[in-house]
Amino acid sequence: MPTYVQGPVRVTVPATSANLGPGFDSLGLALSLRDELEAEVTDSGIEVEVTGEGAGDVPRDATHLVVRSMHAAFDAMDARPPGLRLSCRNVIPHSRGLGSSSAAIVAGVALARALVAGGTLLLDDASLLRLAADIEGHPDNVAPALLGGFVICGREAGEWYAVPSAVDPRVRVEVFVPPTPVATEVARGLLPAVVPHADAAANGGRTALLVAALAGRPEHLLAATRDYLHQEQREPAMPESLALVHRLRADGIPAVISGAGPTVLAFVGATGGTLADRCPAGWAHHPLDVEGRGVVVTG
Ligand code: HSE
Repeated sequence: MPTYVQGPVRVTVPATSANLGPGFDSLGLALSLRDELEAEVTDSGIEVEVTGEGAGDVPRDATHLVVRSMHAAFDAMDARPPGLRLSCRNVIPHSRGLGSSSAAIVAGVALARALVAGGTLLLDDASLLRLAADIEGHPDNVAPALLGGFVICGREAGEWYAVPSAVDPRVRVEVFVPPTPVATEVARGLLPAVVPHADAAANGGRTALLVAALAGRPEHLLAATRDYLHQEQREPAMPESLALVHRLRADGIPAVISGAGPTVLAFVGATGGTLADRCPAGWAHHPLDVEGRGVVVTG
């Protein structure tokens, strides 16, 4: 049976934007907005403290997503801590398409690994990705939350893969966060089972172009962020977000729905902060950097 680290361990984990237009369930980008969490092994019980985003909505017991993710990682290490104390300082908005659930999952598995003496020998990074993606069900938020930066990811022969890819340092983003949430299950429920071959072909071309555009050809970002598979299909759940995407794109700004929405993400040049006046009333606007660091154990 493993032994535990004395005292608390701390991690920070970034927000993420999945899809980025055409990369449905396969592209994700880490962003410079980070949740901070602290956990320690105790003698008994589960104690959960949450401040910030989602504090009024999430459970304070073993069903809390971070705790569930910690237990999945403890199980994988054959560890059974007698009790846990968890503290979460959340800044990533919930149910807005910025990867808050993936941040919780990745933080949980990383906290559990850090709490077990020699945990990195028992669970390598590939195992963390497997655990986290199995819990989330798709990898395009958990992979960049784990690794940072821009990640191409998916599943092949039952194994998750995550391949970091370059981002030109001139690329920054601005996000527009609406006041009302949309559940990912609702947004996924709007997707058709079948798409026309021509749309699939066009989408594949744009996805390939997006990898090149982010790597060093940002002048192609407008064409490269055109999606054919999910954004328009999700319009009934987020009409104002689609309207903002259309307005920005009509002005030549590469804008997409972030993840399953309803946040809108726009790619901008190195100066950033230039689109504040495009933010609808009542929405939040954040200029953000691409975050090079994934989950980090800070102490
Ligand atoms: N690729 C996912 C989706 C991201 O669009 O449903 C949401 O977590």
